[in-house]
Amino acid sequence: MKVAGSAKKEINFYRALQGKHPNLLEIYNIYTSKNNVYIVMEYCRDGDLRGILKKKRRISEDEAIKVLKATISGLAFLQENKIMHRDIKPGNIIYDKGVYKICDYGLSKVIDPNTVSTMTACGTSVYMPPEILRKDYRYAPNVDTFAAGVMVYECLYGNRPWDRALSKFRRDPGFN
Ligand SMILES: Nc1ncnc2c1ncn2[C@@H]1O[C@H](COP(=O)(O)OP(=O)(O)OP(=O)(O)O)[C@@H](O)[C@H]1O
Ligand SMILES: [Mg+2]
Repeated sequence: MKVAGSAKKEINFYRALQGKHPNLLEIYNIYTSKNNVYIVMEYCRDGDLRGILKKKRRISEDEAIKVLKATISGLAFLQENKIMHRDIKPGNIIYDKGVYKICDYGLSKVIDPNTVSTMTACGTSVYMPPEILRKDYRYAPNVDTFAAGVMVYECLYGNRPWDRALSKFRRDPGFN
């Protein structure tokens, strides 16, 4: 069967990273039928960090450090393999048996970690750095590190650092 371009890209990321790092969601197998693609992956029964934060509002400092270590370790591996995630946020960090893992390569891109280049603005606005919000569209893979910082702030404080400032910023006529 013919798989749509974006799905194919995401599947290829999962495939390339298969079995490579404990903080990246593991896939086991991929099957295709006439109309569908089936991805068999490990099941993370404790759900995602967004769900955890919804229930608890915030987590302890020790637990937030675990989130940070896992995310940075997963991201370092992605960067070593020239992959920028572009959508680091609590909904894309899943948890199982005491281990946090990065998932969802729907917006990921292959790029050298030291390269700043012109790209489409994508991601989730509250986790985006100023260079993407300003819409100059020139950014580097360290946008993932910025998003991880916002996410860990949220884990500790129970809210995002600039939700309110961001909605004002969006209403600014200079922000197109
Ligand atoms: N292997 C897994 N085990 C448990 N839950 C999972 C697993 N994979 C995904 N999920 C859950 O499904 C949600 C969506 O997965 P994912 O982010 O990969 O898909 P998506 O299509 O990009 O969805 P979204 O638009 O919500 O980001 C995750 O936030 C998580 O709650
Ligand atoms: Mg997702």
